[in-house]
Amino acid sequence: MDWVEREKKRILQTYSRQKLVIERGEGCYVYDVNGKRYLDLVSGIASVSIGHCNRQLVNRLKEQLEKLIHVSNLYYTTPQIELAERLHEITGMDKFFFCNSGTEAVEAALKFARRATGRKKFVSFTGDFHGRTMGSLSVTHKEKFRKPFEPLISPVEFAEFNSIEDLEKKVDDETAAVIVELIQGEAGVYPAEKEFVRALNDLREEHGFLLIVDEVQTGFGRTGKWFAKEIYELEPDMMTMAKAMGSGVPIGCCALREEVAEKIQAGDHGSTFGGNPLACTAALATIEVIEKENLVENSAKVGRHFKKLLDEHFENVRGFGLMIGFDVDDAPAFVQNCLERGVIVNNTSEKTIRLVPPLIITKEEVEKAVELMKSTSAK
Ligand SMILES: Cc1ncc(COP(=O)(O)O)c(C=O)c1O
Repeated sequence: MDWVEREKKRILQTYSRQKLVIERGEGCYVYDVNGKRYLDLVSGIASVSIGHCNRQLVNRLKEQLEKLIHVSNLYYTTPQIELAERLHEITGMDKFFFCNSGTEAVEAALKFARRATGRKKFVSFTGDFHGRTMGSLSVTHKEKFRKPFEPLISPVEFAEFNSIEDLEKKVDDETAAVIVELIQGEAGVYPAEKEFVRALNDLREEHGFLLIVDEVQTGFGRTGKWFAKEIYELEPDMMTMAKAMGSGVPIGCCALREEVAEKIQAGDHGSTFGGNPLACTAALATIEVIEKENLVENSAKVGRHFKKLLDEHFENVRGFGLMIGFDVDDAPAFVQNCLERGVIVNNTSEKTIRLVPPLIITKEEVEKAVELMKSTSAK
């Protein structure tokens, strides 16, 4: 029996996977069980930003593995405190709650919003994706994901993404928080308009709700800035992060402004593994590599070049930095054709391709990728 059949027999069938069994990775490349090499333009869904098995990350993890793996949050551990200090420097946020994934970061933010404001209502946007657990799912728009699991938490309203008029109708003095993806990732890389974000910021002033910016996908250099909030010159009340934070090692975080943090009390939330020494060491090493190798700048520079090349051949090319979307007639066939040519890409719908490669990717590698993508029949 091969791996695909074995998976089918014993793994719950919640995923539609590509027929590719990956055994190892190095830099921007992964290798399947037969030794075939692929250029990875997905990087574990915008996660392995410093490249597969980065040596500095591996060495730091090995050192930490020998020292301490886990003790829980009943005690203090030094990597967690160091990480919070580094995050303060790169995000400008004041306090940090650690967890293990993006959806957990969103769950935390929703709880903190209710706790800090004493209000109940959330507003999210059409097309937004915030995760699959009950709270995050409640602010995720896609009907297909939500419907079978209702009733979800309420009240939640969805305003039309990029419509100031609709947003004005949906927020009020009862709104605890508005949660937003500044660049919608799972929907297919759709950026918010600057004017819309300015209006959202003004409405926060008017109604006193909290603004949660979900940077799970956009964070840690993905968009050519450390965080997408910098593109929009926005100072959120809370910010969620995960994915690239540990460059593949699971870790998530909800960051808070001091005024919100002050309202949260001991016992309000918790996690056994959240912020454990191994995960925090991975995040510390990731931040160090991003800084040392100027990967935020590389994301901006190579991303611009990538978009320009794609624009010559594909429709509706969009995005920031190395978070790029474009449209094709038959996205599943396009993904398959690319795979056969040794390039891993991802489709977020029947028509949309999303590219989120490691931030270490070079101009030469994106040129090669575009050549291979162009040679597929599906335009
Ligand atoms: C913006 C955003 N928020 C939250 C999540 C959920 O993250 P996770 O899959 O780690 O739970 C995702 C995942 O794709 C995401 O893109």
